[in-house]
Parts: sequence; C-alpha cells; structure tokens
Amino acid sequence: MPQLEILTGKTYCIKTFGCQMNLHDSERVSGLLDSLGAFEAQDLEHADIVVFMTCCVREAADTRLYGQCNSCKSLPAPPSGKRVIAVGGCIAQRDGEGLLTNVDNVDVIFGTHAIAHVGELLAAAFEKGERQILTNEDEEHGATSMPWHRASNYHAWVPIMTGCNNFCSYCIVPYVRGREKSRPMEEILDEVRILARKGVREITLLGQNVNSYGRNIYGKPRFAELLRHVGDTGIERISFTSSHPKDLLPETIDAMAEVDAVVPHLHLAVQSGSSRVLKLMNRRYTREHYIDVIDQVRARIPRIALTTDIIVGFPGETEEDFLETLSLAERVAYSQAFTFIYSKREGTPAAEIEDSTTREEILDRFNRLVHVIEHTAYAYNQNFLHECVPSLIEGPSKKDPNKLQGKSPWNQTVICPIPEGLHVKDCVGKILDVQVDTSRTFYLAGTAQGLPR
Ligand code: SAM
Ligand code: SF4
Ligand code: F3S
Repeated sequence: MPQLEILTGKTYCIKTFGCQMNLHDSERVSGLLDSLGAFEAQDLEHADIVVFMTCCVREAADTRLYGQCNSCKSLPAPPSGKRVIAVGGCIAQRDGEGLLTNVDNVDVIFGTHAIAHVGELLAAAFEKGERQILTNEDEEHGATSMPWHRASNYHAWVPIMTGCNNFCSYCIVPYVRGREKSRPMEEILDEVRILARKGVREITLLGQNVNSYGRNIYGKPRFAELLRHVGDTGIERISFTSSHPKDLLPETIDAMAEVDAVVPHLHLAVQSGSSRVLKLMNRRYTREHYIDVIDQVRARIPRIALTTDIIVGFPGETEEDFLETLSLAERVAYSQAFTFIYSKREGTPAAEIEDSTTREEILDRFNRLVHVIEHTAYAYNQNFLHECVPSLIEGPSKKDPNKLQGKSPWNQTVICPIPEGLHVKDCVGKILDVQVDTSRTFYLAGTAQGLPR
C-alpha cells in the first residue's frame, strides 16, 4: 500500500471533458485529493498532479485528449519538481493501457469504476515512479460516498444512478460506464437535505436514463416518487437529466406538474424523427410515441421548455428520414437542442452499418436542422417578452463582465445589468427578478426588479 501522505501539500489541476457525469466524477476526485491534503492549482503549469477526465462519445473528444497530454510535455517543471499525469474517465476505461500507443507521458490510468482508488494510484506513481493502471469493471468505485469538492455553492449535481442498460446502437456509453445501478433513495435524500441546509438553491438529478431510477434495487422504477420526496427537502429548484422517451411514465409527468420546485423544463432526447431510423438506433420508441409523450407533457405543463439531442447522418439515414426529423423538430417546437453529426464508435453495432451518404449531404442536413431549431428557440423566447423572470444568478455575463448572467426556471440564459450599489459577488447564487425587454434565440435580457434574494 503506497503512503498517501506523499500527496500532502501537492498541487493538482483537473481538466474535464464530456457530460455532467464526468463533471461530477471530477468533483469527487477533487474532494478526495483535498481530503488527502492536496491543493487545487490555478493552472496546469503550477500543478504537480494533472488529471484529465476524458470523454469518447464522439471522435473529436478522443483527439482532444492526445493534444492536451502531449502539450504537457512542454510545461516547465512544477513547484515540487515532479509532475504526475493521470487520465481518468471514459477513454481511460475504454482503452486502458492501449492509451499509451497515442501518448507516452501518462503516469496513471484509472477507469470509471476506479475513482475511489485515485489517491493510491497517484501516491504509488510518485513513490515508485512506475506507471499505474486500474480499469477493472469489478473495482466498484463507490464514488457517491466519497468526499466532494463542489464547483458551485448554489448548484449541485446529484447522481441518482450510474451506467446505462439501453445500448442505443450508436452509443459507447454503456461499454464505458457499465450497467445501470441506482443509489438507494434514502442516501440521495440525505444528500439533498444536507445540500439544502448548506444553502444550495438548485440541484440536478443525474443519470443516463433517470426515468428508470430504482429498477435494479426496487424491481420497478421509482423516479416519480423520488421527485416528490426531493420536493419535500426544501431545495428551491429541482432539475434532472437525461430522460429516455420510452420510460417517461404518466406518474412522472404528474410529479413534474405537481411538485412546485421541479422546474418547467424537460430534456427528452429524440435522436431522430424517423421511426425507421429510431429502430436502427435501438431506441425502442416510434415517432408517434414520442409526439404522444410530448403532448401529454404539454397538456399538464403548458409552458414547459422542451429540449433535446438529435443525431444527423446516422448510417443509412435518407433525405426522407431527415425530413421527418425536421418536421418533428418543428412540431415539438424545441426551446433548445444539442445537434450532433453521427460519429462512428468502434465496438458499437452502428459502426457495422454501411453508409454511402456524403459528408456534404450530412453537413447540409445539419445546417438545415440548426436553422429550424434556431427558429423554434426564438419563437419560444418571444413568449417571455415583458414578463418578470426569476433568474438564478451564475456570475458575470460572458460577453459583458459589467452585466449579470443567470438562468430562468425554463433553462433560458438571462442577462441584466448589475443592480446599482451591488457587485457581481453580492448576486451570485441568488435569485433576481428580471423584467424582460429583449428576447433572442439564445437568451433573454432585461432589467433587475428589486434586490437579489
Ligand atoms: N443518456 C442520454 C440520453 O439518451 O438522452 C444521452 C447521453 S449521451 C452522453 C449525449 C448525446 O450524445 C446523445 O443523446 C446523442 O445524441 C449523442 N451521441 C451519442 N453517441 C453518439 C455518436 N456516436 N455520434 C453522435 N452523437 C452521439
Ligand atoms: Fe447512450 Fe442510449 Fe444510454 Fe443515452 S440511453 S447513454 S444514448 S445508450
Ligand atoms: Fe462522454 Fe463518458 Fe459522458 S463518453 S458523454 S463522459 S458518459
């Protein structure tokens, strides 16, 4: 067993790629390193320990890691004289030792199930100067019971489950995150109660398919019940991601409508508007079922903000299939969407499907889809013109540091001037009512009414 004391006083820097699962895992790694006496460095250059938390959901993510690792070679030596580079997350889980064929300066490789062992691996790398690799799936990470260094004081990611059982034919996630595993409801509720006591205003319940929450421990999904209990903890805003359309039950829609703290926003990835492509994707719902679910949600929560993920250029997607995606996007009238060009992932069933669609055709479809989404997003935001929107202030506006940027319950970015006599820090983590006078595709803007609360 390596001496963990060797990490005391070391500085660390974590670079995170990919989804909220990785963001949260990084918070746990950071919490673990803090508990061992290490300190966060302001940048890579000043770090004795560099951790890359990686993503391989699309090809672009892979290449980014190799560039980042190689660029560490030219950094000056850190304060302690020796720098250890660790790669965690989904690429580490997928490639293990194979990662070394693309980068040779990695000292520690830890998979998605090995987060609880990061301290030992790093200590061993410092102590012995030998490369450490741990990617076994049976190394249960137990990350949810680890210390936790939260990036924000007012918002927290709360994982309610890990892994995925869905095996959508294009997706690498089930292979790198393992099977679906829910956390016991009491453990989640205890964590949320503690967060509420610490003054956290908003939590986001996390899972690859939150609608299936509880299935592996209780024999049936209990997400609706979880939402109602979380609603009783005193947390002001509850959001969740992601939902799978095949598992969104009427009881969950009822809970969303009836629990005041649940925000009026639903992210429901559709991926394609063509039932033929959905079948090839192994999504296990049809276009009609998806639209029916959307209609049920709108009937209960009329102003709900609906967002989605869409893949363009799935192998064999025809122009007719794509037109179905376009018409579905118009019909649902999304307030925002993440649009992706299909990326072939070795080892997934879709990687075996032949495709003759040209890059130009795919790019043309992608641009047409983005155009439709921008149109529906703009139209959605017009509904908020001249309204007073409660905004949870996140910090200065990215475009103008003299303004504040916040988030509405409908997941819109809201911009407003800093109220007179106040500073950004007086407002961050507080809710400010903003009277909207400008509604654009990607944001609302207006003036603050009253003081932050
Ligand atoms: N579990 C979530 C769900 O089903 O809604 C999605 C998680 S995945 C990290 C986020 C999104 O990446 C997916 O919804 C899908 O649109 C996209 N994605 C996954 N694999 C992809 C691939 N091979 N090529 C392009 N986009 C992909
Ligand atoms: Fe990937 Fe599908 Fe699981 Fe989402 S539900 S993580 S898209 S396999
Ligand atoms: Fe990427 Fe892994 Fe998330 S592949 S999207 S970081 S689960």
